[in-house]
Amino acid sequence: QSLQPFHTFSLPSQCPQISVITDNRQLQQQSFSLPFCILGEGSNTVFLNDYQGVVIKMATTGITVTQRVHDYLLEIAAGENWHQLVAYTLKQGMPGLENLALIPGTVGAAPVQNIGAYGVELAKFVEYVEYFDIASKQFIRLSAEQCEFGYRDSIFKHGLKNKAVITKVAFALPKLWQPELSYGPLQQLEQVTPQAVFEQVIKTRNSKLPDPYVLANAGSFFKNPIIANALLNELLLVYPQLPHYYYDGEHHKVAAGWLIEQAGLKGHRIAGIEVHQQQALVLVNHGNSRGSDLVTMVKYIQQQVWQRYQIKLQHEVRLINGDAEYLINLEEP
Ligand code: EPU
Repeated sequence: QSLQPFHTFSLPSQCPQISVITDNRQLQQQSFSLPFCILGEGSNTVFLNDYQGVVIKMATTGITVTQRVHDYLLEIAAGENWHQLVAYTLKQGMPGLENLALIPGTVGAAPVQNIGAYGVELAKFVEYVEYFDIASKQFIRLSAEQCEFGYRDSIFKHGLKNKAVITKVAFALPKLWQPELSYGPLQQLEQVTPQAVFEQVIKTRNSKLPDPYVLANAGSFFKNPIIANALLNELLLVYPQLPHYYYDGEHHKVAAGWLIEQAGLKGHRIAGIEVHQQQALVLVNHGNSRGSDLVTMVKYIQQQVWQRYQIKLQHEVRLINGDAEYLINLEEP
């Protein structure tokens, strides 16, 4: 079966079997002999070539809302679309998620990389994450703390990698709405309402981020690197404009899109793979490209960024090569 429609980067790829899960009980019958790959809408996973395992696509649906004293508890099945959930909560008068509007993908995929945008991360609202434990065939719940959330990170990328299938995510949305307006374009709002923030986020995203269903892409391709303050200070002497954000006492996060743009790579093209003109952190696929073209592009960007700034860029997108996940790390010269 073709995997092209199952991942938004849309490279040509075939796989022997795709198992679509619409009822969690199917998981108990599902074979998890390696290799297997769990997918939501495939907006953060790229198949570089043919995949030699079973693809398990989570397509369960269901939303339950419980009103509590201070908040609403939302329990959402993994296969629900993220943006539709955000729109639904606003319509129901349960704001909080508006900064995370228009992020592609499913609810079940959201905790894996702790999706975040415009000053808000998913972790802030998580009450629990339920997963199917592949070894014991039990459904287990983790509190937000147990999920070990970090910047684009969670336990599902580490301790529970290949061991868990996220089946449900529960959110607590406080009744007392506290808008998060620190991000530039949100400071210009005249009337601060959840709907206004939602619309402004959508407008901002649409101006820079290509719709994956119109122009193939997987969102930000690299993580914003976290660098030591000493390196930041050296870089600021040469590049005073470098956007940087406090991370902890010893580190700052810097904008990878800026580094890539200033390295002159916007619009750089290898076959149909291009560094996006509106946002250099995004790679787009115009078609007629192969996984090897993408790998060449990733290595080239990593090399250029290393040469200029002594910063190692890590790709944020999950790459699948043959039968396994593939990490492209810069080989230091
Ligand atoms: N910038 C440039 N040139 C570029 C891109 C960015 O100069 O080509 C500068 C911008 O002007 C700005 C700074 O870099 O000063 C940051 O850019 P932006 O606000 O567009 O956000 P980002 O850091 O590039 C991150 C997330 C996005 C999220 C936005 C908004 C990561 C890896 N990406 O991008 O998330 O939407 O912030 O909060 O953290 C994603 O993960 O797929 C994603 C799109």
